Amino acid sequence: MQTNDFNLDDFGIYEGISETIVTTTKGWTPNAAPMGIIRKKDKAFIRLFKGSTTYENVVSSKMLVANISNDPLLFALSTFTDLEDEYFQSISFDGLTISSLKEAQSWVLFECVNTKLTSEAFVAEIVPKRAHINRCIIKAANRAFFSVIEACVHATRYKLTGDDKYLKLIKAYGDIVEKCGGEAEKDAMHIIYECL
Ligand SMILES: Cc1cc2nc3c(=O)[nH]c(=O)nc-3n(C[C@H](O)[C@H](O)[C@H](O)COP(=O)(O)O)c2cc1C
Repeated sequence: MQTNDFNLDDFGIYEGISETIVTTTKGWTPNAAPMGIIRKKDKAFIRLFKGSTTYENVVSSKMLVANISNDPLLFALSTFTDLEDEYFQSISFDGLTISSLKEAQSWVLFECVNTKLTSEAFVAEIVPKRAHINRCIIKAANRAFFSVIEACVHATRYKLTGDDKYLKLIKAYGDIVEKCGGEAEKDAMHIIYECL
C-alpha cells in the first residue's frame, strides 16, 4: 500500500513516543538506529542527540525514514552495530535516494521542518512525505520484546555514562526475557550483553 494521504495511525505511529528504527543515508551508505518518534495530536517530532550517525545524516539531509518493526533482533543489532547492506532497500524521493528496512512492517519517510539545533541535540518537527505498508503481523504483546527495547535503552545510557545502575536494570530486563521470550528475544539479549 502506497499513499500520499497520511494518517500516521494507519502506519503504526500513534500519540506518544513510538520506538522505531530510523534509517538515513549519506551518499550511498545507509544507516539504521532505534529512535523515538514523538507524536502530539497531528504533529510529529524528533530529538536526536549529538554524537550518532543518525544525527549527522539528518542534520545534513533533513530527511529520515521511520521503520516500524516488532523484531527484537533488529532493535538490538541496529543499536550496537552497522546493519549489513542486505537489510536495506532504496527509496527514491525528489531526486534523492534514501533507505528503508526491507523487513519493516511499514515505514514513513519524513522531512524535517522548524528545526532547532542546541548544544546537545537536533530537534525538529517532521512532516510525512511518503508512507508504505509491507505486511501486518498479528502478535500478542510479549513482555520480552518490550524488555529488549528497555535493555537497549539502558545499554546506550550505560555506554554513555558507565553508571552501574544501568547494568542492574539491564539484568532485570534480561530476567524477563529469559522467562517470557522466544529465541529471537533471547538472541537479542545476548547481543546486548556482548556489546556492553
Ligand atoms: C528504543 C531506543 C530509542 C532511542 N531513541 C533515541 C532518540 O529518540 N534520540 C536519540 O538521539 N537517540 C535515541 N536512541 C539511541 C540511539 O539509537 C543510539 O545512540 C544508536 O547507537 C545511534 O546509532 P547511530 O550512530 O548508527 O545513529 C534510542 C535507542 C533505543 C534503544
